[in-house]
Amino acid sequence: MSITYKDAQGMEGMRVAGRLASEVLDYLTPFVKPGITTNEIDRLAHDYMTQVQGTIPATLGYQPSGYAAYPKSLCTSVNHQVCHGIPNDKALKKGDIVNIDVTVIKDGWHGDTSRMYLVGDVSIAAKRLCSITYDAMWQGIMRVKPGVRLGDIGFAIQTFTEKQGFSVVREFCGHGIGLKFHEEPQVLHYGRPGTLEELKPGMTFTIEPMINAGKRDIKDGPEKDGWSIVTRDHSLSAQWEHTVLVTETGYEVLTLSSGSPPIPAFVPALPGTSVRPAAVQSTADSAA
Ligand code: MF3
Ligand code: CO
Ligand code: CO
Repeated sequence: MSITYKDAQGMEGMRVAGRLASEVLDYLTPFVKPGITTNEIDRLAHDYMTQVQGTIPATLGYQPSGYAAYPKSLCTSVNHQVCHGIPNDKALKKGDIVNIDVTVIKDGWHGDTSRMYLVGDVSIAAKRLCSITYDAMWQGIMRVKPGVRLGDIGFAIQTFTEKQGFSVVREFCGHGIGLKFHEEPQVLHYGRPGTLEELKPGMTFTIEPMINAGKRDIKDGPEKDGWSIVTRDHSLSAQWEHTVLVTETGYEVLTLSSGSPPIPAFVPALPGTSVRPAAVQSTADSAA
C-alpha cells in the first residue's frame, strides 16, 4: 500500500462523498438532545444514508486486521470516550459532549468527518475543550499545501493544543482516504517541523485530532468490545474531523456542508483569493 494521488475524476468523487458525509451530521443535529440513545442516532443515520442519500455506511462491518467487525453505521464517543465508541441503548443526558463520526461511501469514494455535539447546557470547561479542539483541527488544515510536510501539520496542532493546557492523543491519527477507508499516509497530530511525508497535489487525507482535557494517556473502555477507547485519567476528550484535498496552491476541505460550523477567524484566505475556504453559512447549533 502506498499514497494514492487523485486525478480530476477522483477529486470529484471525493468532493461528492465528503459533502454527503457532512450532510449526515447536519441531518443528525436537531436529534442530538437529552433522552435520545446513541443507538437511535445510529439508526437515524443509517436510514438517511441508505434510503435518502444512497450511500454506504463505511463503518458497518468494517474490520481492520486484529479487530472485530465494527457493528454500527457511525461512532459515538461520549465525554471521556476518546474515539470509536459503539452506539448503545444508553440515553444522552444534559451536560454530555458527544463526538459523532460518520464515513460514507459513494461510487466507491469515502468521505470521513466528525463533529462535537453539546447535549443541552454543558459546562464551560466542556465547551472550551470542544471549541479549542475545533480550532486545533483548523490549525492543522490551514497549513496544508504542496511542499509542507506532515510533521509541520502535527507540530502546529500540538503546539496550539498544549499552549491551551490540553493534551494530544498519540495512539490514533488521521489517514489517507480514497477508494479505501484508511490509506497511507498516517497523519499524526503531533510532531516536528520539516519531518515526514511531503504534501503533493491530489493527496486526500483526514485531520482528526483527539484532545484530552487532562493527560494524553488512553486505555480500552470498560465495554471490552475491542473498539471503545477512553482517557486513562477519566478527563473529557473531544475530536473533530475533516477530509481535505491538497490542491496546487493550498487545500480544499471536502467535508463541508450548510451545517458545518463557521471557519475560525484566524484561518487566512486561500492563496490567490480574497475569500476564506468555502465560507459556508452556519445554520446548525454549533459546538464550536
Ligand atoms: N471514522 C473513524 C476515522 O476517522 C474510523 C472508525 S472505524 C470504526 O478514521 F470501525 F470504528 F468505525
Ligand atoms: Co478518519
Ligand atoms: Co472518522
